[in-house]
Amino acid sequence: TNKMSQSLPAILEEWKCLYFVEKCYVLQLVIQDTYKIYVQKLDEISKLQSSCSASISNQRRRLKEMTQSIKRCSNELTAEEAKSIEEINGKIKTRPNLFLEMESFLPKKNGIYLNLVLGSVNVTLLSKQAKFAYKDEYEKFKLCLTVILLVFSFICYFFINFRFVDAILNFLLVWYYCTLTIRESVLITNGSRIKGWWVFHHYISTFLSGVMLTWPDGHLYKVFRNQFIAYSLYQSFVQCLQCYYQSGCLYRLRALGERHNMDLTMEGFQSWMWRGLTFLLPFLFFGHFWQLFNSLSLFGMAKLPDCKEWQVLACGLCFLILFTGNFFTTVAVVRHKIKSKNETKAKNQ
Ligand code: COA
Repeated sequence: TNKMSQSLPAILEEWKCLYFVEKCYVLQLVIQDTYKIYVQKLDEISKLQSSCSASISNQRRRLKEMTQSIKRCSNELTAEEAKSIEEINGKIKTRPNLFLEMESFLPKKNGIYLNLVLGSVNVTLLSKQAKFAYKDEYEKFKLCLTVILLVFSFICYFFINFRFVDAILNFLLVWYYCTLTIRESVLITNGSRIKGWWVFHHYISTFLSGVMLTWPDGHLYKVFRNQFIAYSLYQSFVQCLQCYYQSGCLYRLRALGERHNMDLTMEGFQSWMWRGLTFLLPFLFFGHFWQLFNSLSLFGMAKLPDCKEWQVLACGLCFLILFTGNFFTTVAVVRHKIKSKNETKAKNQ
């Protein structure tokens, strides 16, 4: 009995081990099976992606040919034929949007810029959640960096007046705008409707901050420095407001379910958007005129006989381009929004 009672725990222990090994083995098999299915599905997905992309480009080509043929024979049509052709044309016009929507879920080749920066890696996100999460992260990144820049500019304006510290601020600006251009290119690949100007605006801002970085310390630099830092401070403040507005739009549109979908519930979103926009616009326009003021001050400085630095004129030009593009694009965006607001109202009446 002594021998038995001694070995019973040992037997139990051994059984536990065996059971554990068996359990591990079964688990291993399950993992392997799941992995096999996963690889198989991946293969199926990549085949589906290629066939979808091929069908879309095929359809595009055929629609283009059809439009050209219709144009060629549009002179010799009877009234009835002209009516049905008009109908076909109307249908053809809706297709590109449908294709664009589909393509935002299909892998595609990167543009020149992304190819240069990232190489030929696929940046298409394959689900709406992933796209939303990426955009959300972009807004959070912007907000975080903007707050850092705000604090930095504040310190530079009120407390520290060293060219070296200014250079760090400008370097941070170069890096920030550069990162934005990359992230925005990824967003565009994923179906974002960011206007080309806003991306271009960030390329110019990168260049402008780079030029500011190389501006040698001297009398003219000292004259413009405070104005520039105050402008940076103001811009960071406006960008905080802008981030708040844009994240608000993003969350509300997501809560609506289908994005870019104009129906009744859209009216609630639009009224929020207009409240946000009317609050934001005066700050934005003030910022645009500050850019114009910066450019005029720099052009004035460039005329001075002791102005030797090329940076003065280069920065002046950048500010002028920024003012023109920002001002006219914002006006165009607002006009477009007013138009679609009136259309939604008319539709719901
Ligand atoms: N930077 C980055 N993305 C922008 C953008 C900007 N300045 N303006 C608009 N977008 C994006 C939107 O997030 C939206 O993206 P989505 O398709 O992924 O959802 C898309 O472009 C379409 O937006 P839209 O409906 O045209 O505009 P909006 O209501 O989001 O914003 C403004 C309108 C006017 C508030 C915005 O364009 C803006 O703030 N512009 C001014 C920027 C400026 O002048 N800065 C300098 C200040 S001194």
